[in-house]
Amino acid sequence: MSLTFLLGGDLSVNRIGYGAMRLCAQPGNFGRFTDWEAGKRLLRRAVELGVNFIDTAHAYGPSCNEELIGEALAPYPAGVVIATKGGVEKTAPDKVFTDGRPENLRRRCEESLRLLRVERIDLYQLHRPDPNVPFADSVGAIAELRGEGKVRHVGLSNVTLAQIEEARGIVPIASVQNRYNLIERADDPVVDYCTTHGIAYLPWGPLAAKPFAREAPLASKHGALAWLLRRSPNIIVIPGTTSLTHLEANIAAGRMPLSDEEFAAITASAT
Ligand SMILES: NC(=O)c1ccc[n+]([C@@H]2O[C@H](COP(=O)([O-])OP(=O)(O)OC[C@H]3O[C@@H](n4cnc5c(N)ncnc54)[C@H](OP(=O)(O)O)[C@@H]3O)[C@@H](O)[C@H]2O)c1
Repeated sequence: MSLTFLLGGDLSVNRIGYGAMRLCAQPGNFGRFTDWEAGKRLLRRAVELGVNFIDTAHAYGPSCNEELIGEALAPYPAGVVIATKGGVEKTAPDKVFTDGRPENLRRRCEESLRLLRVERIDLYQLHRPDPNVPFADSVGAIAELRGEGKVRHVGLSNVTLAQIEEARGIVPIASVQNRYNLIERADDPVVDYCTTHGIAYLPWGPLAAKPFAREAPLASKHGALAWLLRRSPNIIVIPGTTSLTHLEANIAAGRMPLSDEEFAAITASAT
């Protein structure tokens, strides 16, 4: 089993990534992470341990999650890939709404460039389709940013198979990020579609398989992360944690590949 994936056909990423969302104040991932220096140390440690794919979004914080990453890691070590998203706005811990208007996506993308301290965003994802904006207009806006060199690859999040196909008619799609884990597998057809088409699949909520965790700790050889990595070669996991101990355990767990028999047994036991 390969532990790397060629994102967008040209960025080699380790399939054990890191989701930075939790490095914000709580509740609601709203506001600056309270221990800013510890957040920076955690991000640097992740990279030191071989993580070279980090997922964030404008909405995390908002803005301050990207700011933390920029401050911790820029200038980025060679090969580190930062993925961010636009199209979701947060004005209070419990006030979250979509804004996929082209002008808003452009504004947020330009802010992300500044906060992440990059000249081009490796992977820019539409965070969620906006029911009030034609999907093609939102995707078209990101395609335009790509045309201008502000974005290298385009990704989608919280989308259906039909929306992925529609988007692929507008611009190459490098990744899809939907909720998926060992015990929530409604997105199986999307995982398979992405595998067929060489699109990275980033399951969010990978550790939400909590009931299963009672049988095998999340970060163990037979846990939810190892299962995801074995599920499909295009899956990149982005477990989120604020704990150095959990970070190290998650990375180590991903490096213990399951055999076919073990995979089949875990799949059956969680169905
Ligand atoms: N596209 C979207 O709409 C969307 C939505 C949600 C999330 N995401 C992305 O997905 C990433 C992951 O999502 P998530 O943080 O919600 O969920 P998650 O990774 O499934 O779970 C994180 C939770 O699990 C705990 N945890 C982490 N490692 C553990 C371990 N080894 N043992 C026990 N507990 C552990 C963390 O607590 P500790 O801090 O104590 O370790 C935290 O409470 C986010 O960072 C974000 O990048 C995307």
